[in-house]
This record gives sequence, structure tokens and C-alpha cells, in this order.
Amino acid sequence: MLLITGASGGLGSLVAQRLADRPDVRIGTRRPTGPSGPSQVRVDFDAPQTLDFRGVDALLLISAGYGEDDEVISRHEAAIAAAERDGVRHVVYTSLTAEGDHLPYALAHRWTERRLAASPSLAWTVLRNGLYAELLAALAAPGPDGRITAPLGRGRLAAVAREDLADVAVRVALDPAAHAGRVYELVGDRPLSGADLAAATGSVYAPATLAEARAALSAPGTAPFQPPMLVGTYSAIAAGFLATPDQGTLRTLLAGPPRPALETYKASLPQQLQQTQPSGA
Ligand SMILES: NC(=O)c1ccc[n+]([C@@H]2O[C@H](COP(=O)([O-])OP(=O)(O)OC[C@H]3O[C@@H](n4cnc5c(N)ncnc54)[C@H](OP(=O)(O)O)[C@@H]3O)[C@@H](O)[C@H]2O)c1
Repeated sequence: MLLITGASGGLGSLVAQRLADRPDVRIGTRRPTGPSGPSQVRVDFDAPQTLDFRGVDALLLISAGYGEDDEVISRHEAAIAAAERDGVRHVVYTSLTAEGDHLPYALAHRWTERRLAASPSLAWTVLRNGLYAELLAALAAPGPDGRITAPLGRGRLAAVAREDLADVAVRVALDPAAHAGRVYELVGDRPLSGADLAAATGSVYAPATLAEARAALSAPGTAPFQPPMLVGTYSAIAAGFLATPDQGTLRTLLAGPPRPALETYKASLPQQLQQTQPSGA
């Protein structure tokens, strides 16, 4: 039996779609919506009574959202400890690309990788996911004035389509023993710059400074951890830390070329922004 967690999230829902109707798969999420296809179970790392993994051979542990490090770490600890207690054999964990070490949210991922490596009973596989092309659409969309002001500097991002990461997660989770002890770097094959995004959307790339971005992000209603998280992401891209393209791992695990990240970026923008006019045109 394979159990996946986080099935309502952007990545988890793509995984769940791919595993629909398989009798040997359970779909876990904090808020099950009812049994449509494979059996859904409530799995909330913050609610210990929902962490019943008896009968589960492999667990696809999708990293648990945003939050302060102590919050995310305690969620992952709860999931891994329950897996050990209930005799799960293998945990497949969705982590963060090695080049993301400078990102503010890297710590909880690395903690979780170490926790798995130190487990006395679990086999594991680490999927080090690159930043999503869909995330780039949220971070660097053209504004209504036809300008992309995201502070990406001259940096480029080896963004990857979530669909590709879902394909790999499914492949690995369905045959985990073949991937035991492996750490896979899953990044896109064509790093994208702010100028690439502008050219693809008919906009102008006019990057702001990090300070300007931080000020814009610090509007009322933003959670306190969000501005440093987002500014840290811009900063790492601008400084060139996330630009190394796929060295063949993603292509091999997909058994073919990755989806074009630029197309995914465009398709993830609100419809009216997918082809804006250059300002002054
Ligand atoms: N590589 C990237 O660019 C990137 C970008 C954003 C996030 N991430 C990380 O990758 C994960 C998956 O990405 P995504 O796009 O699917 O994120 P998302 O759409 O924001 O979904 C959040 C995910 O966190 C899970 N979660 C939150 N709190 C949880 C808890 N208490 N117990 C169990 N699960 C919990 C959710 O599960 P439910 O089904 O229960 O809602 C859902 O799968 C994120 O959670 C985050 O850690 C990566």
C-alpha cells in the first residue's frame, strides 16, 4: 500500500490524479472531500490521531506547506515518527534542490533529509524539487502597466513544471525500492531570466530593487514570515544561485524531455497577462 500526503496541494493533487483508481493507493489530505476514486484518508501532521500508517508500505511525504521552521519541522517529525512506529518501509520525501540551500525555507528540508537518513528503520528517497515554473508566474508576473518588476536582476531560474515533478514522484513512489537511498536533483533544463519572461509575455523587464520588493510585500495582511521568504527567493535567483539546469536526472526519470518551463510560466499567469503589450506600444 502506498499512501500519499498533501493530496489537496498544487503538487499533491497532480499526484493524486495520476494515482486515481489504483486499489493499492491511499490518498491523504487534511480535509478529505469524500471517496471519489481511491480511498481518501485524513492525514494532518498537526493532528496525531490522523497519523495511522498501519498497513502502509511506502509513504510519499509531501513537504507540509509554509510556516516558521519549527512548525514545519515538527510536522515532518510527527509524520516520520509515525511511519517508524507503524512499520512503514520506505518514505519518499519532496525536498528542495541543492542550489536552494540559500533560500530561507531550505532549513526544514535539510532537517527532514537528515532525519530520514538517520532513521534506524526507514528506507528513503529524496526528491529535491526545483522551484516551480508556476511559482515564477506568481513571483514575476507582468503588472497592469506591462512591466515585470520582480527583482531577479540578471539571474536565471532553472524552473520546473509541477506536472513533471508529479510524474517523477509517482514513478518513484510506485517502485520505491528501485530508488532507495537516492537523492534526485529535479530542476528545469532551460533556466529563465526576467528578460525571457518579458519577451514571452510582450512586457518590459524593469527589475525593482530588493528593498522596493520588500516594501511592497510588507502590506497589511501578509504573514510575518512571507516577506523574508519571498525576498530571499528573489535574492537567490538574482545572485545566480538557482540557475544550473538539469544534468539529466529529470530527463531520465521522465523518460523524455521536461515540459517547457516558459510555457508553464505563461499558462500559469492570469489569462489577461499571458500576452500583454509592451508599455508605450
Ligand atoms: N519547489 C517549489 O517551487 C515550491 C513552491 C511552493 C511550495 N513548495 C513546497 O512543496 C510543497 C508542495 O508544493 P505545493 O505547490 O503543492 O504547495 P501548496 O499547494 O501550497 O500545498 C501545501 C501542501 O502542504 C500540505 N500541508 C500543509 N500543512 C499540512 C499538515 N499540517 N499536514 C499535512 N500536510 C500539510 C498540504 O496538504 P493538504 O492536502 O492537507 O492541504 C499541501 O500538500 C509545499 O508544501 C512546500 O513545502 C515548493
